[in-house]
Amino acid sequence: MNSPINYSPLLTYLANTPLENWAMRLPEHIAHGLSTKRFGDLPGWYRALEALPQVSANTQELGATVKVGEREALTEDQWLTLEQSFKALIPWRKGPYELFGLSINTEWRSDWKWERLEHHITPLAQRKVLDVGCGNGYHCWRMLEAGAERVIGIDPSPRFIVQFYMIKHFLAKAPVDVLPLGIEALPAKMEFFDTTFSMGVLYHRRSPMDHLLELRDTLVSGGELVLETLVIDGNLGETLVPAGRYAQMNNVWFLPSVPTLLCWLEKCGFTNVRCVDVTPTSSEEQRSTEWMKFHSLPEFLDPDDSSKTLEGHPAPLRAIILANKG
Ligand SMILES: C[S@@+](CC[C@H](N)C(=O)[O-])C[C@H]1O[C@@H](n2cnc3c(N)ncnc32)[C@H](O)[C@@H]1O
Repeated sequence: MNSPINYSPLLTYLANTPLENWAMRLPEHIAHGLSTKRFGDLPGWYRALEALPQVSANTQELGATVKVGEREALTEDQWLTLEQSFKALIPWRKGPYELFGLSINTEWRSDWKWERLEHHITPLAQRKVLDVGCGNGYHCWRMLEAGAERVIGIDPSPRFIVQFYMIKHFLAKAPVDVLPLGIEALPAKMEFFDTTFSMGVLYHRRSPMDHLLELRDTLVSGGELVLETLVIDGNLGETLVPAGRYAQMNNVWFLPSVPTLLCWLEKCGFTNVRCVDVTPTSSEEQRSTEWMKFHSLPEFLDPDDSSKTLEGHPAPLRAIILANKG
């Protein structure tokens, strides 16, 4: 089945930049990342994307709730089709969104993370921005709203890619795209982006130093890294490597203390390294909703002591670190 996702505007853009060689190889990577042989659910998700009403958004408001279109712009039938298509892509984890009056109350209040960092980062106006592990691209829309010239998200999960293009379907000209790639698939020494975000990814990587070095390679000299990750309360040198699961996730590797993480970044050649926020994740920020019906944070914490996960580890604490490529 052919993909209904149109990457031509992004490929044309990249072909006129120092990344032109990558642009030539990208169609092959995209085909692999969106292979219906590898991902059996993809054809159903593509059908949901293709069923969306053929209209452009009459309004857009890319604020805390990413809002696209007004209810009145769709007929009753079009609205019901829209609802059906969006429900076909459940679970929706990152958001919130509102499409033509359809509220998507996602598992995460991703706007809270943005609120914690937006006043600390270098303003995104006219910057080229990379969002590594962007999920369904919620923050990519916020980056665009903050004035970025171009936003490219990458994420290896095809469900999230289709979710992103279900929103972009109504904002076809927006200079933002999400590629079906993991960070390891990016070319070495890209040195292209003015700001690179890595949020909620570091603890999923088996080799945190390699992740930091890969992020550094994506940036122009002086470019800014915005790193958000799980940390533990502790001193320099302390890191938790959970033996089994952490908050029921089986792919969590390194949870450093903030001083340890700052040291790792300096060791990897970043300068001006500083922590701008440390916040415990609350059960208001991450919870089950009608758009994400599986268990969520409240069920992952010890019912008798919410300062601990079910496994007895410290409950999720997240830090935001800024650093520059030296
Ligand atoms: C916890 S979510 C974070 C989403 C979003 N950045 C946020 O902060 O809300 C982690 C994301 O990283 C993605 N991911 C996992 N492995 C990755 C890799 N090797 N490269 C890039 N992204 C990856 C997952 O698919 C998932 O969407």
